[in-house]
Amino acid sequence: MDTKTLQQSYERRASRRWKDRLRRWLSPPAPLVMNPREPRDFPLGRWNLYLGGAGRTVSGYVNLDLFPMAGVDVAADAHALPFRSGLFTRIECDAVLEHVRDADQAMREISRVLAPGGYAHVVTPFCHPFHAYPEDHRRFTIDGLRCLGSGCGLTPVAEGWRTGPTATMLVFALEYAKILAPGRLGRAAAHFFLGWLLFPLRYLDLVLHRSPRAGRIGNHCYVWFRKNE
Ligand SMILES: C[S@@+](CC[C@H](N)C(=O)[O-])C[C@H]1O[C@@H](n2cnc3c(N)ncnc32)[C@H](O)[C@@H]1O
Repeated sequence: MDTKTLQQSYERRASRRWKDRLRRWLSPPAPLVMNPREPRDFPLGRWNLYLGGAGRTVSGYVNLDLFPMAGVDVAADAHALPFRSGLFTRIECDAVLEHVRDADQAMREISRVLAPGGYAHVVTPFCHPFHAYPEDHRRFTIDGLRCLGSGCGLTPVAEGWRTGPTATMLVFALEYAKILAPGRLGRAAAHFFLGWLLFPLRYLDLVLHRSPRAGRIGNHCYVWFRKNE
């Protein structure tokens, strides 16, 4: 996706124009539910960093993204974070590492700016369609994520699946329908009708998350890391 289209799509998220409000109102609910067993209560500190939160309000965090737009406090690249070492108590990195060119370097930067004993929460897609923000380079397993962090002084303390196999099936079904549908209007209609029809199935994941096999086609996985003292 080019930068201009990306900026427009972020601006639409927060826009108060009636056309954008109507689009948001008609848009079907996301085809996924979060795993309620994913831990969220690791400590926050005076300074916390949210990577890739363009178009979002993330109170309690410094919001860093590539582009200076709504919600962003610092426009910078995750490959070279403009902060001193050990500044942050907690770092959220949700669906960003698939977009960076060098995930090892981004992870080294996360580790560098994290204080000893601080926590980083890294979430990445495993089975998920191509989505360029502004590029899309890779997918991750939990094993891969764990190794990425361990290689730069981070110890995994919790891990699992955020979104499950039903989310995977639904996002691929929607994408497939949009490929079949002709033109922009056809894609919008496929997204609208199929999205509203299928979204109730997402609740199946609340049961499937308990299955040890769910991760074989899991949608997004997470690992919580603690920075070594
Ligand atoms: C899929 S979105 C993340 C969505 C966000 N976590 C949320 O839940 O709404 C990926 C974000 O990462 C940002 N991003 C991509 N590459 C980046 C980089 N090298 N440095 C910083 N941010 C980057 C994109 O601009 C985009 O806002």
